Amino acid sequence: MTAPASPASPASASAAPAPAPATPLTGRDVVIVGGSSGIGLEVARRAVTAGARVVIGGRNAEKLASAAESLGERASWGVVDTTDKASLAAFFDGIDRIDHLFTPAASYQVGPMRELTDSEAESPFVSKFWGQYHAVRHAAPKLTADASVVLMSGAASVRPPAAAPAYVACNAAIEGLGRGLAVELAPVRVNVVSPGTVDGNLWAQRPAEVREASFAQYGRDALLRRPGTEGEIADAVLFLFTNTFMTGSTLYPDGGYALR
Ligand SMILES: NC(=O)c1ccc[n+]([C@@H]2O[C@H](COP(=O)([O-])OP(=O)(O)OC[C@H]3O[C@@H](n4cnc5c(N)ncnc54)[C@H](OP(=O)(O)O)[C@@H]3O)[C@@H](O)[C@H]2O)c1
Repeated sequence: MTAPASPASPASASAAPAPAPATPLTGRDVVIVGGSSGIGLEVARRAVTAGARVVIGGRNAEKLASAAESLGERASWGVVDTTDKASLAAFFDGIDRIDHLFTPAASYQVGPMRELTDSEAESPFVSKFWGQYHAVRHAAPKLTADASVVLMSGAASVRPPAAAPAYVACNAAIEGLGRGLAVELAPVRVNVVSPGTVDGNLWAQRPAEVREASFAQYGRDALLRRPGTEGEIADAVLFLFTNTFMTGSTLYPDGGYALR
């Protein structure tokens, strides 16, 4: 892991700010694989604000360094590619203990069975399903006895938004993986967050006409008539980190998308 993102501020005895009130995350060690942008970075922000130390991982060192700098001195970072087991091993070798693990890292293609190549169709399972499986496997020896893990899914698992069968199946499989890991790893808690469409970094990378059409469709499909925000999804993840009776569950912060 790198050193903290920025040096400690010089001490000032006379004007020292009052210490922040303790929260369930104060002094806890949080690791976010896929924490350099989007929902993962938003979870990192909230965890740091709540007093945790955070390690963020991703494939791009420059992006990680800049994200960690924005998080402040309780954040550090390491390069990791979840599709590469040697990279996962090296990343987790550099980490001593994990109280909370979140694994939103993934990149994949989505589309109809009749249009995608085999490798495009397999990409959600390769990156999002097996990426998270192997991330948890490499993290497992470092999880503390009262640790929690949150996997990333997507509400397409329960309501396919368009022809994208492998992506739909991948998310459903991740929700099954969460239940299976909750049984195997107990008393470590394992839960899954399964958001609807989020107006954030991932969609900002896509062409404007595709994004606007998708958001408009989501507005028609969801009870709350709009996409979610990264902050709304991050709040759900922090709830799963800290509620000590939640395990084996999937939460759907989706504005009621699955119901219509
Ligand atoms: N945004 C939505 O509407 C939405 C809805 C439902 C579910 N989700 C799920 O949320 C997850 C993250 O989405 P997001 O909106 O937060 O997007 P994002 O901003 O693209 O975040 C993805 C993060 O994962 C990292 N990453 C990607 N592939 C990786 C790999 N193979 N190994 C390690 N790190 C990797 C990225 O950094 P690098 O690229 O530098 O590695 C980045 O830090 C995805 O699994 C997505 O399916 C998103």
